Amino acid sequence: MDWKGNWTLNNETVMYGVFGDPIKHSRSPLMMNRAFRETGLNAAYAAFQVKPQDLGEAIRGVRALGFRGINVTIPHKVEIIPYLDELSDAAKRIGAVNTVVQEEGRLIGRNTDGIGFVRSLKEEAGFFPQGRTVLLIGAGGAARGVAYALASEGPKQMWIANRTVRKAQDLAAELSAFADCRGIGLEDIRECGFPDLVVNTTQVGMHPNEAELPLDAGLLRAGMTVSDIVYNPLKTRLLTEAERRGCRIHSGLGMFIYQGVYAFEYWTGKQAPVQAMREVVERSLEG
Ligand code: ATR
Repeated sequence: MDWKGNWTLNNETVMYGVFGDPIKHSRSPLMMNRAFRETGLNAAYAAFQVKPQDLGEAIRGVRALGFRGINVTIPHKVEIIPYLDELSDAAKRIGAVNTVVQEEGRLIGRNTDGIGFVRSLKEEAGFFPQGRTVLLIGAGGAARGVAYALASEGPKQMWIANRTVRKAQDLAAELSAFADCRGIGLEDIRECGFPDLVVNTTQVGMHPNEAELPLDAGLLRAGMTVSDIVYNPLKTRLLTEAERRGCRIHSGLGMFIYQGVYAFEYWTGKQAPVQAMREVVERSLEG
């Protein structure tokens, strides 16, 4: 803020950014700058299109220019790891980073996607995974973060269903240290009965394939919570079908907002202004 209380950039401004390719569609600059303004921090956040072959140079730039933090998105979440000095336990286990904090010249990689998902699930859908049964659809990069965060909550049982069954089994085996977990093929979803929570982590149902469903809607029952990490469209066909059957629904926007909430909190040590962050993102998606 300047001496009149206006928000302005100056020579004290702390810099942040997001690296991705493509990056034009990113809502992160809007959300993070709103958060900085709301909390009165002298900080700025910009989007940088970084091609895969330029990632190393871009990270050198983060060090040289003294950025306090960055987010990374597709296609850099795994490839960034060798350029960092340290990883959080979760980032190590998940094998991917979406948030980097620079502490006294050291770059520390974290993963806030999965914990962001779980916090949003609790705060927005009122669902607490402890002691409950969970069906996770997908076993790719996005699934890994969500699966680790859910497994750490102490569910009674977790099922991971994936088109390529081997990947589901491998992920289930990795998670078995944390939870009772089984990997199955999509065609065997019936085996898991009626779980308390269903989460889609695949891109099935995402624009432009809005008509697609990741599971047979006949398996959904009133009382279940159904979550989709896709947020384009905001209400996927899975969520529409679930709502019609009396399930509680949880959209993917929450995971996006709360991964940003955690990143903001790691960088600044302040509580993130969740409501303001959500409002600005929702408004941008409306039109
Ligand atoms: P992301 O980082 O978004 O998770 P990913 O690592 O490529 O991307 O993983 C995509 C996930 O969506 C995988 O679980 C994939 O299944 P496979 O492991 O069998 O490839 C799943 N997926 C993608 N398209 C799908 C489709 N049409 N039907 C079913 N599952 C699909």
